Amino acid sequence: MTSMPASQIVLVGMMGAGKSTVAKLLGNALERRVIDLDREIEKASGHSISELFELEGEAGFRAREVEGLHEVLATEEPVVVAAGGGLVTSEAARAALVNTTCIWLRATTATLIARVGESTSRPLLRTDPAGTIERLVQERAQWYEDAATMVIDVDGLNSKQVAAMILDRLEYPC
Ligand code: S3P
Repeated sequence: MTSMPASQIVLVGMMGAGKSTVAKLLGNALERRVIDLDREIEKASGHSISELFELEGEAGFRAREVEGLHEVLATEEPVVVAAGGGLVTSEAARAALVNTTCIWLRATTATLIARVGESTSRPLLRTDPAGTIERLVQERAQWYEDAATMVIDVDGLNSKQVAAMILDRLEYPC
């Protein structure tokens, strides 16, 4: 059994970085519950993310996202959280992430575009997905970097390889 930090693990990074799948793998390996914030928001609201963007605008969705993060962190249960890509745009979320083991799954724009450039479930990627991904990466990179206690470059790696790298680095931090 791997020795792990007691703190909650939060995966951040752009849409398409692999947060949800890697979170599941980490949860299995560490025997921790996995919270996918987007899915929790969908369950609690009874709406898809796309519907929420339409009904409440991006600001409404962001407020739900931060509230969801706060709720999870308040439990102090050592969960693995998969955050939505835009969580770090909220100052309150960034402040809350300070108390977590925050892992940035970093990918080049080329990787992200190849993975989610044709996604239909992500409202922000409806028009000009490639241009939007490039812009969001530029806007958010510094926030991801500031929040992260660990950075994993995921280009060319599958989710199992990414999870294995994380587990290794959690066990042998340097
Ligand atoms: C978003 C990322 C999505 C989802 C929403 C907005 C973003 O989550 O929260 O569509 O702003 O980057 P994933 O990163 O899991 O795709």
